[in-house]
Amino acid sequence: MPETTRGAAAERVAPLTRGTSILGGIGNTPLLRIRMFEKELPGVAVFGKAEFLNAGGSVKDRAALRMIRDGEASGELTPDRIILDSTSGNTGIAYAMVGAALGYRVRLVMPTNVSAERKALIAAYGAEIVYSDAQEGSDGAIVLAQKMRADNPGTYYMPDQYNNPSNWRAHYDGTGAEIWEQTDGAVTHFVATLGTSGTFMGVSRRLRDERAAMARAASSAGSRGHSRRGSPLRLVGPAAKTRFRRGWYLRMFNAAAAHVLRPPCHPNG
Ligand SMILES: Cc1ncc(COP(=O)(O)O)c(C=O)c1O
Repeated sequence: MPETTRGAAAERVAPLTRGTSILGGIGNTPLLRIRMFEKELPGVAVFGKAEFLNAGGSVKDRAALRMIRDGEASGELTPDRIILDSTSGNTGIAYAMVGAALGYRVRLVMPTNVSAERKALIAAYGAEIVYSDAQEGSDGAIVLAQKMRADNPGTYYMPDQYNNPSNWRAHYDGTGAEIWEQTDGAVTHFVATLGTSGTFMGVSRRLRDERAAMARAASSAGSRGHSRRGSPLRLVGPAAKTRFRRGWYLRMFNAAAAHVLRPPCHPNG
């Protein structure tokens, strides 16, 4: 959610074109004006990047497409290999959709307690699901996917979204560049939520390269007592934590997030 202190820039959000194929429906999402903070923050224009308008319905389409394309370019992903990763969420939907569009088999490891809608959507794209123990959460799915790859050398291409630099680069070259262009360089603050941290890292780096004084804040949503098992901060270890040294880290609970993240068609934006 980028902000700009230049009110005039609000009316200068540039349109972007998206191409004609399903994969062209990834990226180049619009910025939507959010007006609900206008009273508290007069003169500050707030926008939300409409990532739900990506072809697969989430920001994760960008990373999945980039990791698959970079896997092809490096020679690690060949037509005979199966795309394998652990995911309980939108990345799985994105892998399944991109894999179907490009003709790759996709196998996803996810805990059994993933929602029925998610399972049905992934299956509808033709991807296979391997179930891991719900009690072990995301960690269990990661461990099982790694074991499957180790037990079957040469069978899989495993993008590994938590450690693959193509994840954040998708946002450096895509999301971040788009925000800079769409605000005509007027953006001064950027806030993103964290999963793998690819979105936050890629966009922050791009905006900071464009404007050294760019302010950045990361937030995560969860419920009180929400387990951090499977959290990318834990999984990738101390290196990830040091990345946040110069930004703010906001912890937001689900009730507050639901209040703030109202549908964009709300009268307050
Ligand atoms: C809808 C949505 N937004 C944001 C994120 C976080 O993205 P990232 O993994 O780039 O930090 C995710 C995934 O965790 C997501 O599903």
